[in-house]
Amino acid sequence: MSEHIDSLQHETRRFAPSAEFAAASLASPALYDAGRDDPEAFWAEQSRNLLTWEKNFSNVLDWSDAPFAKWFDDGRLNVAYNCLDRHIEAGHGDRVAFHWEGEPGDTRTLTYSELTQEVKRAANMLTELGIRSGDRVAIYLPMIPEAVVSMLAVARIGAVHSVIFGGFSADSIRARVDDANAKLVITADGGYRKGRVSALKPTVDDALAKEGEHSVEHVLVVRRGENEIDWKDGRDLWWHEKMAEASSEHEAESFEAEHPLFILYTSGTTGKPKGILHTSGGYLTQAAFTHKYVFDLKPETDVYWCTADVGWITGHSYVVYGPLANGATQVLYEGTPDTPHPGRWWELVEKYGVSIFYTAPTAIRSFMKVGRQVPDKYDLSSIRLLGSVGEPINPEAWVWYREVIGGGTAPIVDTWWQTETGAIMVSALPGITETKPGSAQVPIPGISVDVLSDSGEHVGKGNGGLLVVTKPWPSMLRGIWGDPERFVDTYWDKFHRPDADNPRLYFAGDGARLDEDGDIWLLGRVDDVMNVSGHRLSTAEIESALVSHPIVAESAVVGASDETTGQAVVAFVILRSDQEDAQTPEEAASILRAHVGEQIGAIAKPRQVFVVSELPKTRSGKIMRRLLRDVAEGREVGDTTTLADTSVMQIISDRLTGKR
Ligand code: WTA
Repeated sequence: MSEHIDSLQHETRRFAPSAEFAAASLASPALYDAGRDDPEAFWAEQSRNLLTWEKNFSNVLDWSDAPFAKWFDDGRLNVAYNCLDRHIEAGHGDRVAFHWEGEPGDTRTLTYSELTQEVKRAANMLTELGIRSGDRVAIYLPMIPEAVVSMLAVARIGAVHSVIFGGFSADSIRARVDDANAKLVITADGGYRKGRVSALKPTVDDALAKEGEHSVEHVLVVRRGENEIDWKDGRDLWWHEKMAEASSEHEAESFEAEHPLFILYTSGTTGKPKGILHTSGGYLTQAAFTHKYVFDLKPETDVYWCTADVGWITGHSYVVYGPLANGATQVLYEGTPDTPHPGRWWELVEKYGVSIFYTAPTAIRSFMKVGRQVPDKYDLSSIRLLGSVGEPINPEAWVWYREVIGGGTAPIVDTWWQTETGAIMVSALPGITETKPGSAQVPIPGISVDVLSDSGEHVGKGNGGLLVVTKPWPSMLRGIWGDPERFVDTYWDKFHRPDADNPRLYFAGDGARLDEDGDIWLLGRVDDVMNVSGHRLSTAEIESALVSHPIVAESAVVGASDETTGQAVVAFVILRSDQEDAQTPEEAASILRAHVGEQIGAIAKPRQVFVVSELPKTRSGKIMRRLLRDVAEGREVGDTTTLADTSVMQIISDRLTGKR
């Protein structure tokens, strides 16, 4: 981390927007002025401009029960109507909503009319299956159009979706299904990844076969992989059969602005993932606003591609809700970036004429590693704007991205936000901001953030501290599903000032630095959350998976810096004494990597598992991860004076270097 800060501090390059881009861009300095003068009036105006309310709101923000917020709460709208029907009413039914491409190269084009028909049919199908407003529906699908159709159909009838990333294990699915009491699971037989069919339905079967009662009445199965699957009569239903029976006439009913829209689970500092709850009117307002102005979206001419999976928040806000509310034409791709060849993404950019491209630094770094000869084979001249999200982007990757993918001219927006914030919070605005490689820079209009010391003082320019959001925002999380106390404790307690005008500041969990201009540089998480390839993983969750294996007595997990993935999971385990000689350390490591894969999912598998005989602990028994990180990153071990037993680190490093 400290090396990272150093390299950021030496970065002084600046990129001013071209006159041409600035002249045509949608954003204007007036947005900042309006957002600063009266943020509530600003958001109310944006909401009325960008969305169609069935019943207009007169209330804007109710913060009287902070940190439980209500936005636009006497208004009514239908989220799916805003993403679909109204575009047809406006005469854009023939516009392409999605150019979908399967990994094997099969394609489907869906216009707004076609997408709307599908969603209406699916809404009727869900109603037929007994799904009602407020019911929870789990979605475990590959990146196929049915994933988007499912989300919108659930939203259309006022039910609540919980999308589970396709890489999660049966245990993770079951924990999420149980926590939300989902009545229905929508899955597929399988989807294409890395050139073969990766099965999904069998994982759902395993999840539901686990001990104990569950809430699921039906499993709807989309046929995609055509792989063999088991079938449970009565419970399992084919999507295509049920869709064929359903009518494509469906009138969208409106719901209150604060009606729940979705739950999305994310890792926190404890072993149990948090179900982040988002609601309708405020969420859609900020998703649409940011998508329009941060990406300078001109829906008539742009082809927009966000590479995120719908299993993550980026897929929710910037594949489904923001872009569709704005009537964008998008690319949706099922597979991995390098299948069947390393130029797959760039081939798609050329094929569809992608003009706005949004991805994660980890992907950029892996392309950088392979070299520019791959993207150079394709015509990327359609690209006019690039976005980055999910982790700090190092200046080298930023500059490579601009030069190689953006033809040396495309502005880059480095967008900082979180599952919890629902939409982009800190980012340059293209055509306005002079960009700095590696810095997310400034809050978007209408948003107020600060960098504070641990005791809550503004750190001032040139200093580092903790990133906070100082005023409520429309797309803010409304809670943690079923756990209001954890919601308050996790985000709103650290900077609780009962006597201030605004008693609650939002603590994001990220470190940040203000440069001499007051621009924000993100420095990574300050808690025990790791960021691997832009995915959030909790050290505690992986530790608890490790100790659930019978050979493990104790474990400690750290995020070590990694050239490609940002951070990598590194585990230290102590084996049970009767197990020490039962397998070699290499065997133990491979057993445990597989076990974590089963317990959580492949994304959580440690890069390395070190078998050790001791773990460094303070006198109060807290594991000193800082020291383990030193070991994992191959550095000299830092200050060990607060260890209960100062010889521990020597024992560990002897063991790892084979001296013992
Ligand atoms: C990190 C993803 C630096 C940050 C949208 C945050 C970033 C966590 C950036 C949220 C960025 C996201 N620069 N760090 N532009 N964007 N992060 O919930 O640590 O999956 O707290 O949301 O990713 O991850 P999440």
